[in-house]
Amino acid sequence: MKALVYGGPGKRTWTDVPDRRIEAATDAIVRIDSSTICGTDLHILKGDVPEVKPGTILGHEAVGTIVEVGDAVTTLAVGDRVLVSCITSCGRCRFCREGHYGLCMGGGGWIFGHLIDGLQAEYARVPFVETSVYKVPEGLTDEDVLFLADILPTAYEVGVLNGKLEPGDTMVVVGAGPIGLAAIMTAKLFTPARIVAVDLADSRLEKAREFGADVVVNNGREDAVAKVMELTGGLGADLSIEAVGVPDTFELCTALVRPGGRVANVGVHGHSATLHLETLWIRDVTITTGLVDTFTTPKLLKLIEEHRLEPRAFGTHHFALGDIEEAYDVFANAAETEALKVVLSAQPVPAEPRAKQELATV
Ligand SMILES: NC(=O)c1ccc[n+]([C@@H]2O[C@H](COP(=O)([O-])OP(=O)(O)OC[C@H]3O[C@@H](n4cnc5c(N)ncnc54)[C@H](O)[C@@H]3O)[C@@H](O)[C@H]2O)c1
Ligand SMILES: [Zn+2]
Ligand SMILES: [Zn+2]
Repeated sequence: MKALVYGGPGKRTWTDVPDRRIEAATDAIVRIDSSTICGTDLHILKGDVPEVKPGTILGHEAVGTIVEVGDAVTTLAVGDRVLVSCITSCGRCRFCREGHYGLCMGGGGWIFGHLIDGLQAEYARVPFVETSVYKVPEGLTDEDVLFLADILPTAYEVGVLNGKLEPGDTMVVVGAGPIGLAAIMTAKLFTPARIVAVDLADSRLEKAREFGADVVVNNGREDAVAKVMELTGGLGADLSIEAVGVPDTFELCTALVRPGGRVANVGVHGHSATLHLETLWIRDVTITTGLVDTFTTPKLLKLIEEHRLEPRAFGTHHFALGDIEEAYDVFANAAETEALKVVLSAQPVPAEPRAKQELATV
């Protein structure tokens, strides 16, 4: 089979790798029908995530079809269409029992394209399959559900829910990439009074308007704090969401928030940011951080099924899975290509399950 293999910083190749095979009774082999690329994959390619060893297949977001299940799997069967998301759950550890799957201590958590081979491939081995994947409801296409594999639950859980958004709130989201836009989309479920999007790129701010931002601020040209103070009678935002991942934007979020307000950090940070306790201590501000758990995925799936969420707009560019190298170039160059998410579709492949013997001969 073919897969996108990480070769060390700056190196990735769509190449032949051994076929996947069941390693534990709780595994399944999934044929990848649709996959996508995440900003985190670009971080990995820059060498920012050293736990990813050269030789690892990248990718942690996909929709596929089960072609083989391990002996312990009883609730899923060959032929089932499933969403394979960025977080895997052992289902047994303390954190999985609490719904904090992102913190799984039993071998799950964020493992695909990180600690084990990922989903930018023709086939993938999915551990703990019964407690980790979601059956795709009939009538929904791959692209309807693909963005549930990461950006929607991330923005919703780590941004909107951690930030305790309420009807009538003024919410500011700093960073209008896929995560910031997904925060805007899911924030609308709570009817905020006003959503303000802040970004340096006008093209991203245009998208923010399309996704439902009421006010947009280019903080390369305008003073975002002054603008938000003006909008809120000098108080500040009820909630500011950090969706970039650099020190400046975290500090900006703490300056944008009103006394008693909330700052929800979603960005992945590679450098220390300054916590201005000298101004914050007296303001009763709550700051939250987090890795996505994906405990809201079933609810978000229901909202998509009922057309209350329409995430297809994230899929701006489409490629055949085999053209993934070109897709990476387009995604990495979003400033020019205006890409949000690229959708990678496998060429039609026969749906019959492969024989166990064939899988065993790798
Ligand atoms: N916490 C989690 O579980 C989790 C999961 C997935 C992604 N993330 C992180 O969320 C962040 C956002 O992801 P994304 O895919 O949307 O990233 P992205 O790079 O596509 O978007 C970031 C946006 O921020 C804007 N930006 C950059 N510098 C800025 C500045 N100084 N002021 C205002 N805007 C600025 C860019 O123009 C861009 O539109 C990343 O750090 C990503 O790693 C976190
Ligand atoms: Zn991701
Ligand atoms: Zn666990």
